[in-house]
Amino acid sequence: MNKYVIQGGIPLVGEVEIGGAKNAALPILAASIMTDDTVYIDNMPDESDTNAMLQAIESIGAIVERTGRHSVKINASQVKDVTIDNDCIKKIRASYYLIGALLGKYKRARVVLPGGCNIGLRPIDQHIKGFTALGAEVNIEYGNIDAKADKLVGNHIYLDMPSVGATINIMMTAAMAEGKTIIENVAKEPHVVDFANFLNSMGANIKGAGTDVIRIKGVDKFHGTEYTIIPDQIEAGTFMMAAAATKGDITVKNVIPKHLESISAKLVEMGCQIQESDDEVRVVATKRLSHTHIKTLPYPGYPTDMQPQITVALGLATGISIVTESVFENRFKYVDELTKMGASIKVEGSTAIIEGVEKYTGASISAPDLRAGAALVIAGLSAEGFTTVEDIQYIERGYEDFEMKLKDLGAHIEKVDTDRELQKFKLKYA
Ligand code: UD1
Repeated sequence: MNKYVIQGGIPLVGEVEIGGAKNAALPILAASIMTDDTVYIDNMPDESDTNAMLQAIESIGAIVERTGRHSVKINASQVKDVTIDNDCIKKIRASYYLIGALLGKYKRARVVLPGGCNIGLRPIDQHIKGFTALGAEVNIEYGNIDAKADKLVGNHIYLDMPSVGATINIMMTAAMAEGKTIIENVAKEPHVVDFANFLNSMGANIKGAGTDVIRIKGVDKFHGTEYTIIPDQIEAGTFMMAAAATKGDITVKNVIPKHLESISAKLVEMGCQIQESDDEVRVVATKRLSHTHIKTLPYPGYPTDMQPQITVALGLATGISIVTESVFENRFKYVDELTKMGASIKVEGSTAIIEGVEKYTGASISAPDLRAGAALVIAGLSAEGFTTVEDIQYIERGYEDFEMKLKDLGAHIEKVDTDRELQKFKLKYA
């Protein structure tokens, strides 16, 4: 099984090009089947989650043509089936977007229950509440979600919490329901806005994405479109945190600085210098980081998907930092691994109390999920000595060419498959 081997302690310096946002790409690819016309998507990240989504839509008859590594042409006029249960899709959380897409277009969907990272209870009751309010009958049976409707009719829906998945999923179905839908207390993440822009480019009538209330006028039919996905806020943030933790100097390119504000603000509090221009953010860390406190929140708050990365950086800061996870309840599993590297962190419920140490030391660790996996790689990059990170398949779900991009910034990191390759790496840098 592939793993990363890292020789740490080298400040990362240089420029890194950020790819398209995974969490925008997944619903966009799913919704591409909602028209019989051809849809062209650009700036699509080439990651295992997006590839699983493409395979899923192919499995029901969509014609998927990769026109480049980051561009794809999709035609779903030949879709005959509304049952999605191929093996790849079982592993990803965003399989639930296929329910919203199929239900909206075909008034029927049968999709295997979502998988994804084990970061706490991840119910889909809000999605189901929305589909039901629009007139669907939804049943969970034999490990599948089965949704059907004779007719979908707009409604007024209030979400109990601003769920990204539920906001996007309900938007998809409501965009093809009869009449008006109002969804309140919605998620405002950049990928929610990007998704609404995409659906509007296919002929939907959605207003208010990016605010607390989304208003939709249903349409009968969508048409083809050409659409470029926004840059990935979390990939960018991960490299920004890598600059901080390794006392480096990294410019993330092809980003929307506004989407990174909560991350930039915390880095400034931690003593980093931030320089922003139109589509770039430079992070310079010259001295030991200072402690700070963080609470994860829905956008525009500090993102839960950036919690492990900042915890890793704060583990090296002066003083005591407190990180509170308020979105998912089980997102500190990686702390045990970090402790093996010398971190001093105590987790009590949804709070991590971090006593900064001067340095981490290399260890053999494994990635418990996607973002924690990336965070542990950052820990390895800042640690003295060699670190191996196992279970990197989680990281590959959401980071394209992660180790290549890190290498370009000067990191000593290699993906290795055998003990021989591991030894070779260690000899090279011993
Ligand atoms: C998406 C992202 C994930 C990110 C999360 C929060 C994708 C594929 N994944 O996940 O990377 O960490 O947003 O920004 O885009 N909840 C319910 N009932 C529901 C739905 C959600 O109780 O029906 C709860 C969840 O348990 C969680 C909170 O709401 O506590 C937020 O979850 P949500 O925003 O839905 O996350 P996902 O869409 O699963």
